[in-house]
Parts: sequence; structure tokens; C-alpha cells
Amino acid sequence: MFEAGNKTIDEIRQGEAYSGDLAAVSGINKKFFIESYGCQMNFSDSEIIASILNSEGFGSTRNEEEADIIFLNTCSIREKAEQTVRKRLTEFKKLKRAKPGLLVGVLGCMAERLKSKLLEEEKLVDIVVGPDAYRTLPALIDEAKSGTKAVNVLLSREETYADISPVRLNSNGVSAFVSIMRGCNNMCAFCVVPFTRGRERSRDDVSIIQECKNLFEEGYKEVTLLGQNVDSYYWVDPITNHIVDFAMLLEKVAAISPTLRVRFSTSHPKDITDKVLFAMRDNPNICRYIHLPLQSGSTRVLQLMNRTYTREWYIAKVKRIKEIMPDCAVSSDIIAGFCTEDEQDHLDTLDIMRRSGYEYSYMFAYSERPGTLAAKRYTDDVSAEVKQRRLAEIISLQNELSLESNKRDLGITTEVLIEGDSKKSSNHWMGRNSQGKVVVFEKIKSMPLQKGDYAFVLVKECTQGTLLGTIVENN
Ligand code: 5AD
Ligand code: SF4
Repeated sequence: MFEAGNKTIDEIRQGEAYSGDLAAVSGINKKFFIESYGCQMNFSDSEIIASILNSEGFGSTRNEEEADIIFLNTCSIREKAEQTVRKRLTEFKKLKRAKPGLLVGVLGCMAERLKSKLLEEEKLVDIVVGPDAYRTLPALIDEAKSGTKAVNVLLSREETYADISPVRLNSNGVSAFVSIMRGCNNMCAFCVVPFTRGRERSRDDVSIIQECKNLFEEGYKEVTLLGQNVDSYYWVDPITNHIVDFAMLLEKVAAISPTLRVRFSTSHPKDITDKVLFAMRDNPNICRYIHLPLQSGSTRVLQLMNRTYTREWYIAKVKRIKEIMPDCAVSSDIIAGFCTEDEQDHLDTLDIMRRSGYEYSYMFAYSERPGTLAAKRYTDDVSAEVKQRRLAEIISLQNELSLESNKRDLGITTEVLIEGDSKKSSNHWMGRNSQGKVVVFEKIKSMPLQKGDYAFVLVKECTQGTLLGTIVENN
């Protein structure tokens, strides 16, 4: 743990969301502003970056105008994500003009993908750092301050940032992300991640458990274990040779306290095992929710995507989940219009969506990414119009499925972890149940509650995105 002035970061984090102004407590006078794009992993990385920068005397600020360094932690997964970052970089031009010496850094997947090209292309970038090189940020900042453009995009086979205690940014003080592994070995044909985040490696279990314990002691009630492919988690203790797989890790985290909820993301349908499902079933505090990306419902397209499972395998996997945990919610990622996808392939996707009854899906039009297997081997031959039409059909079906799922919950009592006031009214609480569904209910004077408390709520109404109910009991 590091010191900021005479307070430890953990003391500063105590109790409430830590989002920013270290300067107030420690006399730190250099400030960084960080904006994150993309997946939860990137947001989690920003918290590691914040920790590294804090120990070098930088406090974070939420106001880009008062920053000495601006960082964009970027995503390359779809072209649109990269365009957004490029637009943002041009917006910083004005700030740079107004404040000579202001540094701008591009971090994360786009840094890895475009490397030093970014410095040339975007005259406004001073620092480019890939996902495995954040420890070198302080040295790179010094380099950039002296007028040299600074780049480090080396990928590593070992880096997990295990020893770095993340500084929670924009946290609600109730739930936090804990990174358990980095990289991906799967090589899905559409995906740029194996190229930008490198090979798969797991973090040691001891530091993961310690981080989760610390969070719980600070008042957090929910941890989400993060990795590109959590089911491949595998740690061999170098001294005892003792093996920890993902199911064992889940059980260890769940054992911290029955009042600490455990979530995880993302699972690959080919890798999630019965052992993991049994660990979930046997530990009620491991949430009844699995994100199980389908990508496509057509075996032919799945093969082209290099997903290594068939449509039947996927259907059987969802069936198995429901057999072991009938109340388990399942969500998905779906891509519309992958190379060669025809109408029947698309109908196959809609069919699996219906069979799985997804509670939620993240849905995308296929976007070809340079360097991926698909870009090298196939033609991006589904027109933009067809992609958009299929995507709209997928979204519309998902909306129906989400509403149907919520309607099935009418009349049940569900346990909710309160995250804060409802967005629409401070007379209502907002929280989530084990299935990850948003639940809103009225505050009542006779049952004083606060965020981080659990409450039992009788579901009386619903929309597609929310369950609405009344509190019946709290504990
Ligand atoms: N185009 C569209 N969607 C993609 N995803 C990954 N790569 C692409 C791409 N090239 C989606 C997948 C993945 C999610 C994180 O992003 O569905 O599961
Ligand atoms: Fe990309 Fe596939 Fe790895 Fe997910 S599992 S990060 S989609 S290569």
C-alpha cells in the first residue's frame, strides 16, 4: 500500500466512493484527467493507472481543464470506438493551445494497435502506452515533459499488476471490479483483443482474495471478477504447486462473507464447466447471472468466427445452466452481419435468442478490424444496410425477451443490493438483484436503509429495463 501525504489511499477510500481529488488531502499539485472507453477491463485498468500515477504525485481530477495530463484509455473493438477517441483528441487541441505544457496520452487498445503511428497521425498526442506497460508511465511522462514523444507498447506474458492496489474511480462505493486475468488466447476471427491485449495470463489467487477482502472491509458489497475469458483462470502456486482454477477461485472469494456478492465476466461457452456451475449453485452469494456471448446462432458462421462450438453445444450449455440453477439469468453478445452471414444464419441467431430467453444482450453490427483473422481471410460482404436491418431485428427481439423475463418476475420477492437513489426520484432506492436486474422501490421511514444494504422487494410492476416493487423486509 502506498502513502499519499500522511494518509494511506485505503484510508482515503474508506467508506465512500473515491473519485478524485487527492490534492486536497496530500498537497499534491499535479493533476491528471482520465477518460475510459470500452469494456469493464479498461475501466478497471484506469483504476490501476490512477494508482500508479498517485504514487508518483499526481492527483486525479474530473475537470479536464484543470489537468496537467489528459489520458484517454481507449478501445479498438469496433471502428466506431476508435472514431470517438479521435474526435475527443481533436477537442483537446484547444486545451493544449490554451495551456502550453499540457500533455495528452493515449492508453489501452488503440495505443497498442496503432503504436507510434498515433504520434505522427495525431500531432496532439505526446504519450502512447499499451495495456501491459502502465508501470512505465511515470518515466514516459518525464520523457514527454522534456519534449520527446514517449511510447511503450510492449506486451508481456507476465504482467497482471497483481501488487497494485487500484484507486476506485467513479465508484458507487458498493460494487467494484477486480481483475483476475489479462489477455486472450482464443483468436475469435472478428476480434482485435488478442492482438491488443496479448496472451492470456492469470493473477495469483492470494492477491485477488486480499483485494476482495480489503474492498469488503471498506464497505463494498459486490465484486465482479474480470477477465476476457474468466473460465480459463489457472494459477499454480510456484512454491506449493497447488492449482487454483476458476471454480476454486470463485469459492474462495465467496467465502470472504455471505454478504459479499460475487459476479464475474466474461465466460466463453466452450470453457464454462459444471464445476463452475456447481460452485455457483452451492454459494448463494455468487450471483445468478452468466454472461455467455453467443455471437451467432449459426454453426457455419460460428466456425468461420473460430468460436469452437456449434449451435447445439450452445443450446445444451444454456440448458445445463438452467438445470443446475433454474433462476439463473443469462445474457449475451451478438454480432449482426459477420462475413457471409445469410438470412438463414440470421434466423438461426434469432432462434437461439428465443430459446435462451436472454435477460439482456449487447448487440453489434460487424465491424472489420485490421489485422484480425477475419480481415485477412474473409470479405466483409454483408452490406451496411443489411447489417443494420438485422441488428434492428435482434435488438427488437431482445427488447421483447427482456420484457417477458421481467413480467415473469411479477409477484416474486427478490433480494436487492441497494446502489443508491433512483435516477428519477430521491424518494426511491435503486439496486440490483442477484440476476443483475435493476430494481426500484420506494423508501419508507419505518425501514431506514442506506446504499450497500440488502432489502427484500415484492415486484409489482415492470418495464423492459426495470422491476418496480415495494419493500417487504430488510436484513
Ligand atoms: N465487430 C463487432 N462486434 C465485435 N465484438 C468484438 N469484435 C467485434 C467486431 N469486430 C463484440 C463481440 C464481443 C464484444 C465484446 O464485442 O460480441 O463479445
Ligand atoms: Fe475477443 Fe473471442 Fe477473446 Fe472475447 S474470447 S476477447 S471475443 S478473441
